[in-house]
Amino acid sequence: MKNTFGQSLQTTVFGESHGPFIGVVLDGLAPGIEVDEEFIKEKLALRRPSGAISTARVEADEYTIASGVFNGKTTGTPLCILIPNTNTRSKDYDKTGRIARPGHADYTALCKYHGFEDYRGGGHFSGRITAAIVAGGAIALSALSKKGIEIGTHIYKLSDITDKSFDEYSKADLSKAISEINKKTFSVLDEETGKKMEDAILQAAKDSDSVGGVLETAIIGIPAGVGEPWFDSAESILSHILFSVPGIKGVEFGAGFDKVCKRGSEFNDAFRNENGKVVTATNNNGGINGGITNGMPITIKCAVKPTPSIYKEQKSINLNTLENSDLSIEGRHDPAIIHRARVVVDSVCALAVYDMLAQRFGTDYFTEQK
Ligand SMILES: Cc1cc2nc3c(=O)[nH]c(=O)nc-3n(C[C@H](O)[C@H](O)[C@H](O)COP(=O)(O)O)c2cc1C
Repeated sequence: MKNTFGQSLQTTVFGESHGPFIGVVLDGLAPGIEVDEEFIKEKLALRRPSGAISTARVEADEYTIASGVFNGKTTGTPLCILIPNTNTRSKDYDKTGRIARPGHADYTALCKYHGFEDYRGGGHFSGRITAAIVAGGAIALSALSKKGIEIGTHIYKLSDITDKSFDEYSKADLSKAISEINKKTFSVLDEETGKKMEDAILQAAKDSDSVGGVLETAIIGIPAGVGEPWFDSAESILSHILFSVPGIKGVEFGAGFDKVCKRGSEFNDAFRNENGKVVTATNNNGGINGGITNGMPITIKCAVKPTPSIYKEQKSINLNTLENSDLSIEGRHDPAIIHRARVVVDSVCALAVYDMLAQRFGTDYFTEQK
């Protein structure tokens, strides 16, 4: 299913950047989940552009829940969220619309949709669609939180500037760190490092360019024994949905590429009994063994590329004539995606983890008692 993800909880996204609406349908939700509208708004605000480090296209994201909620709780029938697009400036795309933006999906969209695609503002490929994912993800995040599962993401690396890592935190401190970063618009563990990162984004914008980096995510409180051994391994499900986020070009679990060239004696996570609970002394495997969660935090790093739409002149082709053409873009773009993508990453992880738990324990696992 091209625009649908999941088995027990199916998430469908729809809409185009300059169409009347974008939205999400969540099908298979448990009945009786509290829908906290303030929480949905908070999450949407974290994705919304703010200041010179983001695009000037600011949308109010005033959504409507069109179905699936009654008296503030999910009914268990498909829940549809509609978000109108109000701040569109389609004329920006009249001139450049047919010159492919390098690194964007203009050319591949033409190859697949034969010119019928709505290319304005990136159409269905736009980062704008992620607002719908964040709105839907907020419902999954609240349901997970009631089960003691929390998700948090910070900017681990931007350009050559590196933040602290979740690895440096004890279990109790990690939970605190997650609740703190979840309140921040620019999500970093170390504030001084964050300022340097914001300066690097501003510098890229001044240079008519963009900058990328790496996000680090921790999912804590997930029970051991969730996931499947082969094709639906917890890593497969999470990376499947993470690679759907526009701009994500790499996903690694635990210590990942950095440490895999070490010896087994250095990489293995020793098992320990801590007050009757099985834990591991280190977490190089990122909380997953054999595709199945082991009860430790799931830790993930995502490579987020620099925004493809840059104001520097670039070499490209005219999509009508296939002639070589120079491209000077108009439109409003983010000099970096990463600080806005972080809440999108939390949201897709929540939708995937919800789905895995519902498959393991059944739909009613998330039903709150009356
Ligand atoms: C929150 C968010 C905002 C984005 N903003 C922009 C933008 O302003 N300009 C742009 O060219 N790409 C932006 N992107 C990235 C493109 O949507 C993405 O690079 C493009 O669809 C091609 O997909 P790919 O990079 O996954 O191959 C954004 C992505 C996200 C997640």
